[in-house]
Amino acid sequence: MPHIIWEEKYSVNIKMIDEQHKRLFEIFGNIFDRMGKKDDREALGVDVWELARYATGHFDAEELLLSEYYFPGYEQHKKEHEVFRSKVAIFQRDLEKDKTTLSIDIVHFLMSWLSHHILTVDKEYSAFLNEKGIR
Ligand SMILES: [Fe+2]
Ligand SMILES: [Fe+2]
Repeated sequence: MPHIIWEEKYSVNIKMIDEQHKRLFEIFGNIFDRMGKKDDREALGVDVWELARYATGHFDAEELLLSEYYFPGYEQHKKEHEVFRSKVAIFQRDLEKDKTTLSIDIVHFLMSWLSHHILTVDKEYSAFLNEKGIR
């Protein structure tokens, strides 16, 4: 199972956001660990629920910050987050229907979505917000 680890290259140079991204990586790590063990279905469900809850909170916090400072790419950024939000919802539904094997693809999708999103889309607001004094 792959293990996603936060590295300096993921830093957006804003402490609160970096901390939230680290936590998201940690939750993904837990999910991958659980997926390796077939008997841990209930705990896996809890972790996925936590991923959905925490990711939603993180997106809300990011969107609030971007709108507060009138970031020009706000609308597009918000749309990107919707992709993740709806995929997590599908994942949760699959788990309820007991389709774990199919869900592995979804976890891979979500994980690569997150690292790609941070490295490309999130990085776009770094300099903009740093200039406004947000660090
Ligand atoms: Fe984002
Ligand atoms: Fe983010």
